[in-house]
Amino acid sequence: MKRVGIIGAGKIGGSLISRLSASGDFDLTVSDIHEAQLKLFAEGYGVRTTHSNREAAEESDLLIVAVKPWDVGAALDEVSPAMESEEKAVVSVAAGVPIKAIERRLPAGAAVLRVMPNVCAAVGLGSAVVAANEPGEAYLRMVVGIFRHVGDVIELPERLFDAATALHGSGPAYVALFADALIQAGVREGIPRDVARRLVNETIGGTAVLLKERSAHQIRDEVMTPGGTTAAAFVAMEKAGFVAAVYDGIEAATEQSRRLAE
Ligand SMILES: NC(=O)c1ccc[n+]([C@@H]2O[C@H](COP(=O)([O-])OP(=O)(O)OC[C@H]3O[C@@H](n4cnc5c(N)ncnc54)[C@H](OP(=O)(O)O)[C@@H]3O)[C@@H](O)[C@H]2O)c1
Repeated sequence: MKRVGIIGAGKIGGSLISRLSASGDFDLTVSDIHEAQLKLFAEGYGVRTTHSNREAAEESDLLIVAVKPWDVGAALDEVSPAMESEEKAVVSVAAGVPIKAIERRLPAGAAVLRVMPNVCAAVGLGSAVVAANEPGEAYLRMVVGIFRHVGDVIELPERLFDAATALHGSGPAYVALFADALIQAGVREGIPRDVARRLVNETIGGTAVLLKERSAHQIRDEVMTPGGTTAAAFVAMEKAGFVAAVYDGIEAATEQSRRLAE
């Protein structure tokens, strides 16, 4: 059984705990600063819990650090003495924290991997990218296997992590923004809110399935009758700067991810 520690039982850590414990393939130790969080996972999923990050590190071969970026440094300082063994690796899911910054807080030669997941992991439909330092490469297969429990995983050079963070890490929030705008627009045209919500949710869910089989352009062309309603909407949306706003948003998020690393 693989011994996996998770520091931070929040949105990302919690998704991992629920899916990994259900698989029965992992010996899990979870640490968090909140007693209520630990109780939830101890009672709900039968995992070992502790307030001590150091203990979570000692009890695991692979330690996943799932706290906010500004809490990563303190958590690593706490676990560093327990990471001397060559048989151990650290995985960080924190936005904007580079592998080099993690290495600096750990014993020399430590295996470090970086994963950027997204919140769709909560329903097992997440997407994640992974990169490793040289010693961490030996753990790539194991880490990909772990994150596959909560969705799709792709290896990506670390230099593209800020862009990936902007694209899929924050991605669910953009889709939610678009969904909310569509619902509001439907309500404005007189559709009852609950009906608008159901129509929009099913449309986004159905389109996500279609996108797995065909390109975005193909779907657009299938829906857009020349001279029809979709064509009219496209012209109006593009005149209002819809596509440019998406480019600007991704650029701003990429820059913000770079700033977090400073
Ligand atoms: N949420 C997303 O959509 C998403 C997507 C991609 C990547 N990420 C990355 O994933 C990481 C975790 O994000 P999240 O949204 O899952 O965070 P979260 O829900 O806030 O969970 C983190 C948990 O760890 C606790 N914690 C804070 N400092 C700690 C410490 N020193 N030791 C042990 N536990 C500690 C937090 O307590 P407090 O609440 O009191 O701080 C909280 O319970 C972040 O670095 C983020 O950049 C998140």
